Amino acid sequence: MSKKQDKKHQQQAAEPSLDFSKALIYTPAPESSAHIRLKKQYDLFINGTWVKPSKGGYFETINPSTEQVLAKVAEGTQEDVDKAVKAARAAYENVWSKMPARERAKYIYRIARLIQERAREFAVIESMDGGKPIRESRDIDIPLAANHFFYYAGWADKLEYAFPGKNPESIGVAGQIIPWNFPLLMAAWKIAPALAAGNTVVLKPAESTPLTALKLAEIIEESGLPAGVVNIVTGAGATGAAIVNHPDIDKIAFTGSTDVGKLIQKAIAGTGKKLTLELGGKAANIIFEDAALDQAVEGIVNGIFFNQGHVCCAGSRLFVQEGVADKVIRKLKDRMASLIVGDPMDKNTDIGAINSPEQLKKINEYLKIGVNEGGEVFQPNCSIPSKGYFCKPTLFLNTSQSHRVVQEEIFGPVLAVQTFRTVEEVIEKANNTPYGLSAGVWTDKGSKIFNMTTKLKAGVVWANTYNKFDPSSPFGGFRESGFGREGGLHGLLPYLNLR
Ligand code: NAI
Ligand code: MG
Repeated sequence: MSKKQDKKHQQQAAEPSLDFSKALIYTPAPESSAHIRLKKQYDLFINGTWVKPSKGGYFETINPSTEQVLAKVAEGTQEDVDKAVKAARAAYENVWSKMPARERAKYIYRIARLIQERAREFAVIESMDGGKPIRESRDIDIPLAANHFFYYAGWADKLEYAFPGKNPESIGVAGQIIPWNFPLLMAAWKIAPALAAGNTVVLKPAESTPLTALKLAEIIEESGLPAGVVNIVTGAGATGAAIVNHPDIDKIAFTGSTDVGKLIQKAIAGTGKKLTLELGGKAANIIFEDAALDQAVEGIVNGIFFNQGHVCCAGSRLFVQEGVADKVIRKLKDRMASLIVGDPMDKNTDIGAINSPEQLKKINEYLKIGVNEGGEVFQPNCSIPSKGYFCKPTLFLNTSQSHRVVQEEIFGPVLAVQTFRTVEEVIEKANNTPYGLSAGVWTDKGSKIFNMTTKLKAGVVWANTYNKFDPSSPFGGFRESGFGREGGLHGLLPYLNLR
């Protein structure tokens, strides 16, 4: 070693850095978007063709990490929704409900294969339009969407075995309204079981993330699916309301905010329309003293910072048993310091862009509320891009049950932490919200897991893991988180009448 090098070495040794954000500097590894072909303007996909919106309106969808406009998208009106419902009804009566189920299955299977073939393109567009890290769109959203189509293709000609002793019948036209947090995956959750059960569909994607649903329409065209079986009508709340209120729709499936869910429930009361609602959540992640702590911390981080916390089942409340609280919080802070916030297209990125300026504003308001309530804030010393909508991962320590950051859905990378002593105490605290979508339990004891899963009021309880999804496994909530299940056999039920 030269003298100069030796001096440098000694200096480094004398200044050990505990700042993980400085220690972990990765070379950028951006996924290319050069292969992406987006049209300047997208029309509505009705009756197997692309039609202009009746009033000629278009809105822009942006890339939330760059604030650049990606495309203009048609604003569907009541008239357009009516056209789509008529097409869906005709396709239901004349073609789809009469087709042998094994033929229906072939189309659904083909859609799954086509998504797989174009998986890379879909992943890149999902990250561009919605801001989620490419690693997630590539490894979670797109493969799971294809898997849902594969899974339900398998059920199409086996419905009588799915519900033994019953005579399952399709119900007609389904109106489906989906949010922006998992755009293609939510489309798959809704379209695949509807088609397998023999229904036709009018689907409205969210206004900030319509592009992968429109790309799915291209796949549907390519698959040769009979015209009118799936119609994609873009637009905002008014377009969604036109679907909800259309008299010739037999079933509404909605995923989104609890407020809009309540409006929909009121709007269709007394109409005989079937309804499933998948709404908000405020999930408790509970760490017991006997848990594998490093594994638990990784699960907590995944549960709330994954997809920027834009997850209805995000583990947004952490309960740590007192004996390990200090240790867990230290490990959590260390892990948070190593998270990379930034370009969604970079394969190293852990936390991408917040989906829209409105959502960022909402999250920032909650950060202020949390401070005013007396919560102690921790944010790692990481940098965030100056352009685009970004939020650092945030902890609120010393919170209590009455704090709004503990009670209300923030839908951002914000975790409220509390401690507990006994099992009874944590069950009571965990159940003390208006929601009941999901929960997580971290412990070494199987008996404790069983005890907790029976007492926690949540549709899904993960044990020693979090945010795990599979097409064969049902998902859905209690109370203000909604009702009805998606995925698995349960997910077929809302699309069938059992006689
Ligand atoms: P939202 O509930 O307004 O949007 C979800 C979908 O419903 C979109 O396609 C939207 O166009 C449509 N919609 C809006 N108003 C409608 C109406 N009156 N009738 C029919 N459809 C309508 O949610 P938003 O405003 O985007 O987000 C607000 C909050 O909702 C978030 O901060 C988050 O807390 C929660 N949320 C929960 C989701 C979940 O997965 N459970 C997903 C998205 C948002
Ligand atoms: Mg967008």
